[in-house]
Formats: sequence, C-alpha cells, structure tokens
Amino acid sequence: MDMDKQKILIVGGSSGMGLALARRCLAEGAGVVIAGRGEAKLDAARGELGRPAALETAAVDIGSEDQVAALFQRIDRLDHIVSTAADIEGAYRLLPEIELEAAQRVVESKFYGPLLLAKHGAPQLPANGSLTFVSGIAAYRPAARGAVVAAVNAALEGLVRALAVELAPIRVNAVSPGWVDTPIWEFVAGDKKDDTLAAMAKRLPAGRVGRPQDIADAIRFLIGNGFTTGETLHVEGGQRLV
Ligand SMILES: NC(=O)c1ccc[n+]([C@@H]2O[C@H](COP(=O)([O-])OP(=O)(O)OC[C@H]3O[C@@H](n4cnc5c(N)ncnc54)[C@H](OP(=O)(O)O)[C@@H]3O)[C@@H](O)[C@H]2O)c1
Repeated sequence: MDMDKQKILIVGGSSGMGLALARRCLAEGAGVVIAGRGEAKLDAARGELGRPAALETAAVDIGSEDQVAALFQRIDRLDHIVSTAADIEGAYRLLPEIELEAAQRVVESKFYGPLLLAKHGAPQLPANGSLTFVSGIAAYRPAARGAVVAAVNAALEGLVRALAVELAPIRVNAVSPGWVDTPIWEFVAGDKKDDTLAAMAKRLPAGRVGRPQDIADAIRFLIGNGFTTGETLHVEGGQRLV
C-alpha cells in the first residue's frame, strides 16, 4: 500500500497511541486528520507534530451521532478510519463506587463511538479501506475496579467481528494493547502511575511496558495488510501468559 496516497482519520490522535500513529503515518507521507473533543489538545498535538501541511484537525465527540455525521460531511476524501478514543475518567472504581454516568462515557467513547464511525464513515471508504479500533488487556486480565472497561473492550471486539462481515470488503480490526505508558494512566493510577507501570514491567515477558509507538506499529500493520479482517491483534508484552 502506498501510504503517500492514503488519507487516515485518527480519532484520539491528540494523545498517546493515536498521536504516535499520526506521527508514523505523516512520516510515511499519508494525509492525516486527528480528531478529539478538546480543541486546545488538538492544537497542542498539531504543534508537537510540527504543523505539517498534510495534517488536519477536527473537534468531535464520537459519542454524539450528530457530531459524527457532521464530521464526515466536512472530510472530503478518506481511506482509513482509526479510533483510539477512550474516556475512562471516573470509571476505574470498585462496584459500590461506580457511577453510571462515568460508565456511560466509556461506552460512548469505546463502543457507540466506533459504531457511529462505522455507520457514517464506512460509506465514504473505498473497497480497500479499513477501520481499526482499540480494545485492551482488561478484557482478558480483568482486575478489581476494571469491570466497566473490561466489558466494553470485550463488546468492542465482538462489534469488530460483526462489522468485518457486514462491511466487507472493507476490513475491520482491533488492536488489544497491554499496559502502555500514555496520559490515560493519570485516570487509572494518578500519582502512582510510575510505580504501577514499573511493577508491571518486571512481570512481563517483554521486560517493559508498552510505548505508544508499539501500538502505532500494530495499527499500521492492520491498515496496510489487505488479508486481515475481523481480527484482534494483541500487543501486550506477553501479559496474557503471566
Ligand atoms: N494506555 C494503556 O495502558 C491502555 C491499555 C489498554 C487499552 N488502552 C486503550 O487504548 C486506547 C488509546 O489509549 P491512550 O492510552 O492512547 O489514551 P489517551 O492518551 O488518554 O488518549 C485518548 C484520546 O481519546 C480522545 N477522546 C476521548 N474520548 C473521546 C470522545 N468521546 N470523542 C472523541 N475523542 C475522544 C482524547 O481526546 P479528548 O479528551 O480531547 O477528547 C484523546 O485524544 C484507548 O481505547 C484505551 O482504552 C490503553
């Protein structure tokens, strides 16, 4: 696949894995649209990426159908859609402390969001286009406090398999990351972030936690490999083995 002929929408591209993917795709010559809710965060990301001409930004909350529909009206041409979006603030709680509103934001960002991106975005994709979403290790190695995220990740993987059938020949895949050092950890571990990640690094066969680029690599593979669809690619340093 000639990346310099591809245009890729990356929802979540203002932070973490999505930002690493944007950097990777731009370096390969692709046109990139990074999207997220926060305009200031998008602008900061654009600055970090060096404000290249091939980069556009778009403010959107993918939990809103009106906003998703409007987004695709604004974008003229698109080959691939990726979403790394997740809003897990307040969702890592033991059951007695879980508030439905926080759980709903996880569902909106990681399940309804991908569903809406597929509904409104797939009609714009060419036959060799793709959609790639991001689930996560919590579905396979759930921990106390992680029930909502575990369930939504599992649901997303089911959605991916069904969409791969319904939207064929457009390909639909997921990457399931293990623990990756990104800003999302502020919501999971707060000021214990560094200690928590260091302890996990010692347990993992890979001997370290993930870097955003590790996941960007995996998404890049799924964008480019025309014979992979309905798949969940695990990039987790061996965490499911220990
Ligand atoms: N980091 C890990 O250890 C880990 C492990 C397993 C799975 N994952 C999964 O990997 C994915 C990427 O995580 P990350 O660590 O890169 O997260 P991150 O750094 O927190 O980035 C999340 C991005 O999603 C955007 N976003 C959140 N809610 C949105 C919404 N409703 N609509 C549009 N954009 C939205 C955020 O921007 P705004 O806030 O401005 O909207 C931000 O750009 C997520 O699905 C996460 O659940 C992460």
